[in-house]
Amino acid sequence: MSSGPLPRVLVVTGTDTDVGKTVVTAAVVATVLAAGLRVTAYKPTQTGVAPGEPGDMAEVERLTGAGTSEGVRLRAPMAPGPAAALEGTRLPTLAQHLELVTDLAAQHYVVVVEGAGGLLVELTEAGETLADLAGGLPDAAALVVARSALGTLNHTMLTREALSHRAIRQLGVVIGAWPDDPDVIETTNRRYLADLPEGLFGAVPLGAPRLDPTAFRAAAPTWLPGLAQRLGTP
Ligand SMILES: Nc1ncnc2c1ncn2[C@@H]1O[C@H](COP(=O)(O)OP(=O)(O)O)[C@@H](O)[C@H]1O
Ligand SMILES: [Mg+2]
Repeated sequence: MSSGPLPRVLVVTGTDTDVGKTVVTAAVVATVLAAGLRVTAYKPTQTGVAPGEPGDMAEVERLTGAGTSEGVRLRAPMAPGPAAALEGTRLPTLAQHLELVTDLAAQHYVVVVEGAGGLLVELTEAGETLADLAGGLPDAAALVVARSALGTLNHTMLTREALSHRAIRQLGVVIGAWPDDPDVIETTNRRYLADLPEGLFGAVPLGAPRLDPTAFRAAAPTWLPGLAQRLGTP
């Protein structure tokens, strides 16, 4: 497991969309809250949600009770660039995201930033990605959320390589939904991920988002031992 102090900004990326980034974001927030520290979450671009509807940050708030914010919200369930074009909306610039996250980091012990889709999805009109957002912050590191099933190792290694290529610090991989009765592929995948240099940061059990929020908050530190240890969470 990678060592060193906890960064002020934790960037939650994933091998794909629908791999559990939002649930892992909530688990990270809950774990920091359990240590008695101030924490918030930020979604730079929320797509596929109409005004007034609950997006990813509403799910984080429901599960943790923490405050959150969004950079921009777009209705179309597609990449931010084309979704904004459909609405004739401008996307925030990288500088605007950086300023917002820097402000949040000044007011919280940890800011958790949830990407849209995978790492290299373009978040701005200039084509910058979550990797550029992480790379533009002085004290940020990435968590890579991965599936447990067949195919995850290639996608995880591609994401790790893209992060390394951009010199972004990696805290480790988190399995988004770990079953009670893993099959042999899942078991060997987990062992492989745990043996990576930065190690397995944690695994969220299958069914976690269906827990009631109190149970979710109580259990989250046990899912993310890599984080709980750094925070000294009991
Ligand atoms: N550990 C889990 N157990 C059961 N369902 C999960 C788990 N993690 C995520 N899900 C479900 O899978 C879907 C995608 O998860 P989500 O966290 O929204 O992924 P992403 O943010 O990567 O798109 C959601 O419906 C979510 O409730
Ligand atoms: Mg999400």
